[in-house]
Amino acid sequence: MSDYVSTFSYQTAICHAPQFAPRAYKHFTVSPVTGAIGADVEGIDLTTASDEAIAELEQALTDHLALMIRDQTLEPEQQIAFARRLGNPFPWPYAKQMDGYPEITELIQEPRDKYAFGGTWHSDSCNFESPPKFTMLYCVECPSVGGDTGFSNQYLAWEALDADLKAELDGVRAVHSAELGYGTGSQDPEVLANATTTVQYSADQFNEALHPVARTHPVTGRKALYVNDSFTASFEGKTQAESLPLLKKLWAHSIIPEFTGRLRWKKGSLAIWDNRCCMHYAHSDYPGHRREMRRIVIAGERPE
Ligand code: SIN
Repeated sequence: MSDYVSTFSYQTAICHAPQFAPRAYKHFTVSPVTGAIGADVEGIDLTTASDEAIAELEQALTDHLALMIRDQTLEPEQQIAFARRLGNPFPWPYAKQMDGYPEITELIQEPRDKYAFGGTWHSDSCNFESPPKFTMLYCVECPSVGGDTGFSNQYLAWEALDADLKAELDGVRAVHSAELGYGTGSQDPEVLANATTTVQYSADQFNEALHPVARTHPVTGRKALYVNDSFTASFEGKTQAESLPLLKKLWAHSIIPEFTGRLRWKKGSLAIWDNRCCMHYAHSDYPGHRREMRRIVIAGERPE
């Protein structure tokens, strides 16, 4: 026998129930993509949708956490107008905004680029006191394959932790730091020279926030795990070194395949996700090809 010990085990069967029972909507159809998270939406035009259709979309987002709405043709002002129907879009402070449209960040990856924006698991701007509730991306151009956005259901991640660990973590807060996320890594000259979209960060923009490790969703009342290895520096009152062993365990747990799904892009698709209960990941598997997205974040509440 070798010294190698296999990690083979049986994963607990787990799913997100709404994925198996999508509602019958009046204004569009919904097709869930995995048992955990995400759905394709067809049959709605976001430029002419009625208030009733927008309310249905919000319900679908509550149920499926991340939606890929197909077959849209959106000028920047139309995307902003749609975002305003869901809340308050605001200029994201860490990147240059689109000329004339301060609410839009262009995420562009050129064929020559070696690095992609957003290629780590995270929940957007969790270093803000009040992070955005929703993020939307509109696809202007994408490769024929590759460049999917991955999502991970953090209700499932919290609920699947063992009872003792949940009891230990309930009420604990963690420090989320822009310095960790955007400080060293995003200032690397190699990255800056080889990525078209980069984070514009300087130490005087430093901001960090304390948030519950398990945040309660204001609409569903369910708890979701809220830590990630891009921004979560430590537990409140503990050093980073003291926090890292448990944080690493939580990070690995939060992205196990059974919690995840990938939404596949097509030109004219618009994705929208709920940062309060899911994380996302930009797959960087298309060197030599071009991808262009227009991103808007919509203001959220302080996590509780
Ligand atoms: C992001 O992290 O906001 C970007 C995700 C993507 O480009 O797929």
